[in-house]
Amino acid sequence: MRADLIIKNIGHLATMRGVNKPRIKEEMNDIEILENAYIAINDGKISYVGQGHIIDGLIGDKTEIHDANGLTVTPGLIDPHTHLVHGGSRENEFSLKISGVPYIDILKQGGGILSTVKSTKEASLDQLYDKAKKSLDIMLGYGVTTVESKSGYGLELDTEKKQLEVNQKLDQTHPVDIVSTFLGAHAVPKKYKENPDEFVDIIIEMLPKVKDLAQFCDVFCEEGVFSVEQTRKILNKAKEYGYKVKLHADEIVSIGGAELAAEIGAISADHLMAASEDGMKLMAKNKVIANILPGTSFSLMKNYAEARKMIEHGVPIALSTDYNPGSCPTENIQLIMQLGSLALKMTPNEVLTAVTINAAYSVDKADEIGSIEVGKKADLVIFDAPNVDYIMYHFGINHTHSVYKEGKLVVD
Ligand code: NIG
Ligand code: FE
Repeated sequence: MRADLIIKNIGHLATMRGVNKPRIKEEMNDIEILENAYIAINDGKISYVGQGHIIDGLIGDKTEIHDANGLTVTPGLIDPHTHLVHGGSRENEFSLKISGVPYIDILKQGGGILSTVKSTKEASLDQLYDKAKKSLDIMLGYGVTTVESKSGYGLELDTEKKQLEVNQKLDQTHPVDIVSTFLGAHAVPKKYKENPDEFVDIIIEMLPKVKDLAQFCDVFCEEGVFSVEQTRKILNKAKEYGYKVKLHADEIVSIGGAELAAEIGAISADHLMAASEDGMKLMAKNKVIANILPGTSFSLMKNYAEARKMIEHGVPIALSTDYNPGSCPTENIQLIMQLGSLALKMTPNEVLTAVTINAAYSVDKADEIGSIEVGKKADLVIFDAPNVDYIMYHFGINHTHSVYKEGKLVVD
């Protein structure tokens, strides 16, 4: 078959193909790198991956040929945990934070998430869209072609819905694909402080009302926010309504979030800075992906999740920005990847696995994205780097040379 497009002269091609499940242990490091490679694309999908001389029959009169000039190519990066859609910013809390006031105390005083709830309620759908689009453009510039985006700054139906509608509009209008998550249980509004279980019931009532707008349901399971029992109740109901589930687990205090993720069959448990070793073992046994967010540790000036221990126990790892206005105000996935190596001590190959194929599994899209193999979307990044290691080694800059989304050049 004649290709629509061929990208030739790829110095190092990290295909990430070959293991048809989330990668664990040495599978995270043992990735296929093809030298002197090329990719053929038809109808936005990968139709052939080759090495050396381009095989006969691929090039026709209408085939476009792009030259990767010996650079490094990976699948489009996937950011599987963000709070992309929100109003305002929280630099007013920055001095408090660096003077040592804990994140959770700022929230208890009515700031933190609750302050972003106010700004998000006040913003119109168009204002939220414009702000989120700006961030999405930045993410794309760093090589991200799929983003998970949560609600959670409404805590009542109309604003939660408004955020999810922004997700839908972004997905329809922006080259980056959006995976939408309902996070109604992100904080307890002030008026339910004395009876949080009443608020849990309100979230449960919202579940069927936003089902058309979200594929996942998430809960901030944390001491002083939602307990393990409350989280279990919400997520079990969410499953009944057909949501796939995940949770913010053991971010600050080890309260059994990892164990709960294993018990209820969550696709991922996210954060895990305080996860117990038993929790890690149960996650490995029940194939829960650990979604680690090292930018949040960095920005909260706290400890990092024990990625090496999790890899040892056979937990598949994904990495995300957690982009949000409080605990991690950055869209830069490459910085997160560099922290993956420099702070979590993951090898560059493990890091790449965590932001491609394992991230694809954690948003339940591994049949379409996350690796460079025939039939998958031609979401690709050309990095201005001689090899994969270089991307993690030379930190703090943007290595993106160009980005293809479903075979279209979207960053040049
Ligand atoms: O993943 N921990 C809870 N939620 C977000 C922070 C949201 C915010 O501070 O606005 C997180 O870190
Ligand atoms: Fe988060």
